[in-house]
Amino acid sequence: MKKKLLPPRHIAIVMDGNGRWAKEHGLPRIKGHEQGAHSVEESIAACLEAGVEFLTLYAFSSENWKRPQLEVQGLMLLLEHYLHHKIEEMNRHEIRFQAIGRLSELSSNIQEQLEKVRRATAHHCKLTLTLALNYGARHEMIDALRAIVGKVIQGALTPEEITEEVFSQHLYTAHMPDPDLLVRTSGEHRLSNFLLWQLSYAEFYIVKKYWPDFKKNDLLEAIEAYQQRERRFGEVR
Ligand code: FPP
Repeated sequence: MKKKLLPPRHIAIVMDGNGRWAKEHGLPRIKGHEQGAHSVEESIAACLEAGVEFLTLYAFSSENWKRPQLEVQGLMLLLEHYLHHKIEEMNRHEIRFQAIGRLSELSSNIQEQLEKVRRATAHHCKLTLTLALNYGARHEMIDALRAIVGKVIQGALTPEEITEEVFSQHLYTAHMPDPDLLVRTSGEHRLSNFLLWQLSYAEFYIVKKYWPDFKKNDLLEAIEAYQQRERRFGEVR
């Protein structure tokens, strides 16, 4: 009998389709994002139930600044509201919170809130919730490269010492395992500049539903489907 995989340790999600969901419901795009914030809660609940240790969500890409100003402002307000209201719940469920991306380019208010929630939850280890904000994988790799080159120039690192592990440790995701499972909603088959290095061996699960319709059971189904897969990491097994 085929051996079932353990649940994924780390799930990464591209939360796509908020805009289309809103359009189909005759609502402004921001209502789709608001509804999408509920799906974040649903996914957290699924991870807690299934024993997933890391959940990383693509909440705002470095390209998302090109959206209409009103939508960007709405997303930032939604984020502020979320951070303001979730500390207690995160503490109750032993969730550690952090954000990755070029955070210094976010408003000082949001930076302060992110840091506040990060510090308030840093002692937890049941589930690490990571929001990718002003995140772009190419930026992340350039930032890692700059840090590494800086160390080489200082003499702290030789070019021969630059291994995959060393590179990984200079990414925003240092100290996290690579995602085992990538979920993308709304049926698109794209990575959209998300965790390009870290997703090298991830299993992909694409679902047609728009993100606001993606509920706890949908993520549990994705986890179940992942557990039926056979991961070979390039080997013959
Ligand atoms: C993609 O859908 C979604 C985003 C760019 C934003 C994701 C944000 C949320 C789910 C809500 C905020 C999250 C938190 C944690 C408060 P889209 O707008 O590109 O959809 P479309 O492709 O149908 O237009």
